[in-house]
Amino acid sequence: MKTRAATKADLGEVFRLEQAGFGSHGYPDFLFRQLLELWPNFLLVAESEGKLVGYALGGMGEAKEHGWILSLAVDEQLRGQGIGKVLLQRLCRDLADSGCTELRLTVHPDNGAAGLYRALGFETETSEPDYFGFGEPRQVLLRRG
Ligand SMILES: CC(C)(COP(=O)(O)OP(=O)(O)OC[C@H]1O[C@@H](n2cnc3c(N)ncnc32)[C@H](O)[C@@H]1OP(=O)(O)O)[C@@H](O)C(=O)NCCC(=O)NCCS
Repeated sequence: MKTRAATKADLGEVFRLEQAGFGSHGYPDFLFRQLLELWPNFLLVAESEGKLVGYALGGMGEAKEHGWILSLAVDEQLRGQGIGKVLLQRLCRDLADSGCTELRLTVHPDNGAAGLYRALGFETETSEPDYFGFGEPRQVLLRRG
């Protein structure tokens, strides 16, 4: 398995993974196209035997010190094999190399993925009961340095 920056040709598969991972809460396909223009180095894919098996999306705030992990998803059949961790580690490193000293992300309080984030040094900064609208709570996790 290797990770690399996504290209335009990958966007169909990235969107498939997004829909499988997040359903109606996923980002729309055209957003990926636009984000690739904004942050071409922060849309990463994991590839195994010529197949895309996961992706991670990051971005930067107005202050370049403020990085965000915006999405992370792995093919359902291949979860639990370390792919998400490798993608997240690389995205964190790439954002840090670009000057981000604070990395944030949001996670639903019931999502076990929080364990992965905490293992990589993220800690709860805030909890918002209606972060994405009424009844859509999220924890904002922060990692410094
Ligand atoms: C979250 C996700 C990307 C993790 O990918 P993955 O390849 O299965 O994760 P890894 O195999 O690298 O797991 C790394 C560690 O995190 C833990 N972990 C990851 N996802 C977990 C989950 N949902 N529940 C419990 N533990 C989880 C693993 O047990 C593992 O722990 P270990 O290193 O002690 O063995 C994947 O489950 C997914 O695509 N989920 C649907 C989309 C989603 O919820 N994304 C996160 C949104 S905030």
